Amino acid sequence: MNERPVKTEHALEQSAALVADAAERGQRYLRTIDDRDVFPTPAAIAATDALGGAFPDGPSDPHDVLSLLDEYGSPATAATTGGRYFGFVIGGSLPACTGAAVLASAWDQCAGLARVSPIGARLEQIASGWMLDALSLDPNCAVGFTTGATMANLSGVIAARRSLLLAQGWDVDARGMFGAPELRVLVGDEVHISLLKALGLVGFGRERVERIPIDDQGRMRADALPKLDEPALICINAGNVNSGAFDPAGEICAHARASGSWVHVDGAFGLWAAAAPKRAHLAAGCEGADSWSLDAHKWLNVPYDSGVVICRDGDALRTAMRFHAPYIVPDVAPDPADATPEMSRRARGIEVWAALRSLGRSGVADLVERCCVFAKRFADGLAAAGYEILADVELNQVLVSFGADERTSRVIEAIQRDGTCWAGGTTWRGRTAMRIAVSSWSTTPDDVERSLAAMIRIANETD
Ligand SMILES: Cc1ncc(COP(=O)(O)O)c(C=O)c1O
Repeated sequence: MNERPVKTEHALEQSAALVADAAERGQRYLRTIDDRDVFPTPAAIAATDALGGAFPDGPSDPHDVLSLLDEYGSPATAATTGGRYFGFVIGGSLPACTGAAVLASAWDQCAGLARVSPIGARLEQIASGWMLDALSLDPNCAVGFTTGATMANLSGVIAARRSLLLAQGWDVDARGMFGAPELRVLVGDEVHISLLKALGLVGFGRERVERIPIDDQGRMRADALPKLDEPALICINAGNVNSGAFDPAGEICAHARASGSWVHVDGAFGLWAAAAPKRAHLAAGCEGADSWSLDAHKWLNVPYDSGVVICRDGDALRTAMRFHAPYIVPDVAPDPADATPEMSRRARGIEVWAALRSLGRSGVADLVERCCVFAKRFADGLAAAGYEILADVELNQVLVSFGADERTSRVIEAIQRDGTCWAGGTTWRGRTAMRIAVSSWSTTPDDVERSLAAMIRIANETD
């Protein structure tokens, strides 16, 4: 009984040795990340050809596989865990999360069911409670751990669809969308593309939605909302992907309540403002909504991938997501998979728990506030150098124009080539802009000054 088969022991010993090897390589990677170009050089990208070739005829030594991955893979990464990556809205990975992720890889838990992974379910449950507390949301909300905000938006919209159609006597999970009563769906004109995708996936149509006019910061104009005679779905932004602006959630929720409508908040990164006392006013009113999407891999600085759906009506979310099979005996408490589209999935709560446990309430607030202060420094520095800041900087996003659109595009390309830092481009109110998103715990004041100096130098040198 106690005799373990030699083969298993050997196999596990090899895995243990590989964890040590990977940890050493990971250490080297993290210790040198700030000394290299933020975006990989063309030569480093070209060298990844060494990872391909014909499908190998047979097995290789796992150490050789790891060595190959490190030698050619590591230099071809974008240094998003370093302090000078300001592209999209990408957070780094907090030390506790990176460590937890290594352990989580060794654990390899499948988190869908508590019966499969008691620790996966428990950590998600604890992290859910802490997150709702940090965001000042109702502690009774249901929480699901998704790959990102896109799946969280989808999950929120699915719960809304179930609830709104059920109110009209239609069980959409049983009967589907053919013949279902029509629902009005309203979005701001600056709705994030992931929400349109979610609306399309559930059968509401990406183009059938009613787009509500916005103001000069990209906020939905509450005064432009139509009178609602029947319950509708209203999707709002907490953190415009370009400007960081918030739709006026309080007014919109009040308008929705009168008709029994459902408000879904896309709070991918902006909703974290609610956890920072100096920025919480921006998200005021969001707590009155019905469902929320959130990314942990953005501002909470949890490693990819990690999103969260939160739903006030837990039954609407869980009934839509629930599944039954004779081989699955339901647990007493809801299972993690009851709140998300997936059945099998990695235990994302591990790193979310590690982030919240290591930061605590004040640490989350500091992280958010620090990024906002750095964003303002970028804006002030660029404005002082004569460049135009296109939107108010109240959160972590900065939009800057370097003059004519063509010139701005050339400056963005040159900044990206230079390697000191990385920021992306966008279009804002018809103008080309560079978008700086400050979202990483590892960004220091020195990173900001170095990056700002590089941006200004390059912009001044560009024709
Ligand atoms: C406002 C907003 N919503 C949704 C998303 C989609 O999130 P994810 O890429 O994690 O699916 C993003 C990502 O940039 C976002 O900024």
